[in-house]
Amino acid sequence: MSSIITVDGPVASGKGTVARQVAEALGFHLLDSGAIYRAHALACLSRKINFNEIKILEEQAQALSLKFIGETIWLDGADATAEVRSEAIGLAASTLSAIPEVRAALLQRQRDFAVAPGLVADGRDMGTIVFPNASLKIYLTATAHVRAERRARQIAKQHVAYKAAQRLAAGETMSAKQLIDKGKSPTIMSLLETIRAHVPDEVEDTLRRDVEAMIRRRDSQDKSRAIAPLKPALDAIVIDNAEHSPSETVNVVLSLWKLRSAAL
Ligand code: DC
Repeated sequence: MSSIITVDGPVASGKGTVARQVAEALGFHLLDSGAIYRAHALACLSRKINFNEIKILEEQAQALSLKFIGETIWLDGADATAEVRSEAIGLAASTLSAIPEVRAALLQRQRDFAVAPGLVADGRDMGTIVFPNASLKIYLTATAHVRAERRARQIAKQHVAYKAAQRLAAGETMSAKQLIDKGKSPTIMSLLETIRAHVPDEVEDTLRRDVEAMIRRRDSQDKSRAIAPLKPALDAIVIDNAEHSPSETVNVVLSLWKLRSAAL
């Protein structure tokens, strides 16, 4: 199948968001390959498999019972989305994904996503190893500092939204009452905006520093491993998106695809 777009890049480079929006715009399937490695890591940790037991780690990769339904990730028949997306599981996935037997066991599962009308695949080695013949290869990047700021903001938002939902459920949210008084619906998003103003800067700063340290560690593991290291394919278009919003990057990718697909 020729309609494959690969989007590779390091942690928090925006590849997940960009890949999802490009897939939606084109009506293509989406492969979040990181989620497969993460689900494998979670399955191994839940079963308390030792990270030195290569044969068992490989068997677990082959036997992985995993399904993506919309944004939900089902592992062993249960909704594992939140755990799979956690930073701790990301780091464990980074460690386990350096094992050649694990990568080999998960390769065909990823290639099976390439079905009509097309696929947008996001990961670390989509353009180099999994889909070397993809028609368009993108490599997204930004400095670790910028990526840490983005990820810290995302985590803070999730935390604030969670707290807002808890307060709303307990009926003790002032801002909800104020919104109702104003005749507005107290959606989580509007609550978020109100409560967001009260997250102290120091909390975000500490979070950003922690996240940056984690990002640097994961970048270094992913780039230095012997097999399928994170790097742009020779024919990839490298986009530094530090100064761009996700929608600007999406538009650039869609324009590139228009040019490329006209020539197919
Ligand atoms: O993209 P992510 O953060 O969800 O990926 C989690 C880890 O999985 C990443 O640090 C390395 C590994 N991974 C990989 O080795 N190859 C891929 N194609 C995708 C992810």
